[in-house]
Amino acid sequence: MSEIAEAVAEESRQLAQGGENEPLVRIDELTKVFGTGSSQRVVLAGVNLDVPRGDWVAVVGPSGAGKSTLLQLVAALDTPSSGRVYFASRALHSLSEEQRAEFRRRSIGFVWQRHHLLADFTAAENVAAPLLLDGISHREALRQAGELLEQVGLGARAGQRASELSGGERQRVAIARALVNRPELLLADEPTGELDEQNAEAVFRLMEQLHHSRRLTTILATHNLALARRSRRVLALEHGFLVPAGEAAGASRMAGPSEAGGKERG
Ligand SMILES: Nc1ncnc2c1ncn2[C@@H]1O[C@H](COP(=O)(O)OP(=O)(O)O)[C@@H](O)[C@H]1O
Ligand SMILES: [Mg+2]
Repeated sequence: MSEIAEAVAEESRQLAQGGENEPLVRIDELTKVFGTGSSQRVVLAGVNLDVPRGDWVAVVGPSGAGKSTLLQLVAALDTPSSGRVYFASRALHSLSEEQRAEFRRRSIGFVWQRHHLLADFTAAENVAAPLLLDGISHREALRQAGELLEQVGLGARAGQRASELSGGERQRVAIARALVNRPELLLADEPTGELDEQNAEAVFRLMEQLHHSRRLTTILATHNLALARRSRRVLALEHGFLVPAGEAAGASRMAGPSEAGGKERG
């Protein structure tokens, strides 16, 4: 076969494997057990979930249910006791430490309950930080950070230190930072947990806008049921299992590209 024919064949193989219908995230019989002996705690007992591209999934459950544990496993920040997580058909468990770091840098945006911004640096520098780590020039990184800060409504605050921003503003900066590397997947762990109702609403609405405008796939962990119900799918972590928590009222508004592909397995 000629080189070109080989390349075409390879491309069609890849398309066949990782086509649009393949879930972006596949979680397969995932378990996580902390401790040993009498102090052993089974946090995840066999979680199955397919998340198609463009989907928005809320995972609800009381404090201690395992929401953060689940998100950290999806982000390859922790390793499962058993079971698998796949991202775009790539098995996270088979990646080297270096590949996992690159996966986190390029494919995932993470927003935490605490913003984790560098207090003495400006909003723009905080947003630019992941780009600088990626070897992009200071000037270009700050340009892109400024653009993103505009998108989250903070263009005018770009030069302000993080320590001088309000809680809601800091969380907006954290969202901008999470998205600056253009990840496909946004993981948000109680992103509004430390905000008052008004700021929580504003930050959540911003996430909804960005989800659509940047064609994200979003997994949100929250114990705020009112916000969770605006998600296309709401799942509850109960006794280590992920179970449907009823179809959300906002289902049609948050509808992703693949309704049929979005059902839980198992
Ligand atoms: N590194 C760890 N070592 C031991 N136990 C842990 C660890 N991380 C989480 N846990 C336990 O796992 C359970 C679930 O925690 P977590 O995932 O943070 O729940 P949630 O985010 O739903 O509040 C809790 O009982 C917590 O104490
Ligand atoms: Mg948590």
